Amino acid sequence: MDHEGLDTNALGRLLNDLARERKRVRLIYTISAFHNPTGLTLSAARREALLELAYEHDAIVLDDEAYRDLHFEAPPPRALSAMAEGWGVITTGTFSKTVATGIRVDWIHARPELLGLFGRMRFAMGQNQLGLHIVTEFLLDGGFEPHLEKVRGIYQKKRDLLHAALKQEVSDFMDWTESEGGVNHILAPLQPFISVGFKASE
Ligand SMILES: Cc1ncc(COP(=O)(O)O)c(C=O)c1O
Repeated sequence: MDHEGLDTNALGRLLNDLARERKRVRLIYTISAFHNPTGLTLSAARREALLELAYEHDAIVLDDEAYRDLHFEAPPPRALSAMAEGWGVITTGTFSKTVATGIRVDWIHARPELLGLFGRMRFAMGQNQLGLHIVTEFLLDGGFEPHLEKVRGIYQKKRDLLHAALKQEVSDFMDWTESEGGVNHILAPLQPFISVGFKASE
C-alpha cells in the first residue's frame, strides 16, 4: 500500500504470477476506505484499476466497508460496488464501528446471484438476536444518522489530538499519514507508527 491505498500494480503482478502457475484467485479482499490499520483510502484511479484486474482475472472483490461512513470531511471516492454496478463486487459493513463496539450486527450488499451463495452457509455460532433488534429499532426511529454525525465528530477530535501530540513529540524523526476517517487511531493509538518511515537523515 502507498498513499493511494492498495498498490494495484503490485496486485496485477501477483495475479499474473499466480495465473502463470495456474493458481486461480477467486476473491480479492480489501478495505477500500480508511483501511485498518493504515488509515489509507483507495483513490478513484486505483478503484478503476482494481475492478479491471478483478474482471480480467475473473475474481470477485470483497470490499469491507466497515469504516466508510466515518469520514471526517469529504466522503471517500465512489464505492467499488457502485462503480461496477454491483457486478463482481460484494460489500460488507458493520454497525460495530458506528453504533457500539462489539454489537456484531453486519450487512452484506451484493447482486442476488451472489447473495444466494451466502444463504447456503450455516452459522454455527448463531446470531446476536438482541443486537439485531436494537439496531433495527435504532434505524427505524431515525436515531442512526444523528448518531453518526456525533461519532464522526468524536473520532475526528481524537484523531486531531493524536496527530497534534505526534507532531509535537516525534515529527523531527518520523513521518506518518494523517487519517481522514475511521477509528483505528482510537483502537490502537500507536498504529501511525506502523506506517512510519524514518527520514533519510536519521
Ligand atoms: C475491518 C473490519 N471489518 C469487519 C469487522 C467486523 O465487525 P463485527 O464483527 O464486530 O461486526 C471489523 C471489526 O473489528 C473490522 O475492523
